[in-house]
Amino acid sequence: MSAHSQNIPVAQPVLGDYEIAELTEVIRSGRISSGAKVQAFEQAVVEFTGARHAIAVSTGTAALHVSLAALGVGPGDEVLVPDLTFISTAYVVLYQGAIPVLCECDPSTYNVTAEILESRLTDKTRALIPVEMNGIPLDYDEILPVADRIGIPVIVDSAESFGSEFEGRTVGDQALAHTWSFFPNKTVTTGEGGMVTTSDPELASEIRSLINQGQDGRYNHVSLGFNYRMTEMQAAIGLAQMRRLPWILEEKERIASAYDEAILGIPDLEPAPRPTYASRQSWFMYSVTCENRAQRDAIANHMGKDGIETRTGFPPIHSQPYFREHFGYDESDFPVTMAAWERKLDIPCWAGMPEDTQGRVIDSMKRSLA
Ligand SMILES: Cc1ncc(COP(=O)(O)O)c(C=O)c1O
Repeated sequence: MSAHSQNIPVAQPVLGDYEIAELTEVIRSGRISSGAKVQAFEQAVVEFTGARHAIAVSTGTAALHVSLAALGVGPGDEVLVPDLTFISTAYVVLYQGAIPVLCECDPSTYNVTAEILESRLTDKTRALIPVEMNGIPLDYDEILPVADRIGIPVIVDSAESFGSEFEGRTVGDQALAHTWSFFPNKTVTTGEGGMVTTSDPELASEIRSLINQGQDGRYNHVSLGFNYRMTEMQAAIGLAQMRRLPWILEEKERIASAYDEAILGIPDLEPAPRPTYASRQSWFMYSVTCENRAQRDAIANHMGKDGIETRTGFPPIHSQPYFREHFGYDESDFPVTMAAWERKLDIPCWAGMPEDTQGRVIDSMKRSLA
């Protein structure tokens, strides 16, 4: 196959000798359930994010769920979650028997704002789970006071923002808790995997107990817990990925900047959001804003024929069959979120993407509008 005819994926992890070496050590050690590698990976995340505690778990969904469980969120409680997010942000609220209250987004960042959250608060609101879509950090100066004013916790779904910065500080210690995913399309991967970071010692120790079957001491089960532990194999890959992290972030910024420049020259399209407070973005995905859904689909179709993978991103939660069936939502609810999603197209952005490969993406995008 010639270089020109090869398919270009929308996301792709970088795996190689570091990961092989770490994994080989684990296999040779004979210990493959949670152990020293998990501890070392947690320590690396503590050092990187600046949070005092990092608790490794089996997935990003588990990280979200256990955080809610540790905070005692339960039946009768409402939790504010964005309409535009991955399904698990809303599912975990249901796992706890609580009600996910969906929120519109600000189309200029895809994230919720203080004003939007304020408009959805009731006397039953028990927690907020704002999401950092595409790795675009939240405006913490705006968001956190909403919760502080009424004394409720904020868990940030930071699954996509590993490495992002808010006003010069790495994301991970701004809110009470941040949750991470290490699925292969994320900044760093462990295959499947997740983490909670927090600087609250009591919350950290409750989460540690809950992910380990609610134990307080061996076989002494004091609460209704889960098996959400991370394995040594996952942590070994995570540790190797942490060595690559500075390079991954530099690479993604290089690619995002080149897209910004090219897209500014294409009249129908807008480059990805870059709020000024975001001193660094992880570039989980680079999203182009199209004029409307028909144009987005035409571009995606054209690029697909050129062997270039694109993604429309997660359709809003309210449009998902499960939520329509159980909550009676209609497609036309949450029109701002729906319109933002309809115009959004994720294009290939991964560390190590050669310049000529990116050139093919840009060229195909331009030709799709010709
Ligand atoms: C915003 C968001 N939240 C939660 C998750 C869930 O993470 P995981 O797939 O590791 O369970 C993901 C990613 O898949 C995500 O993008």
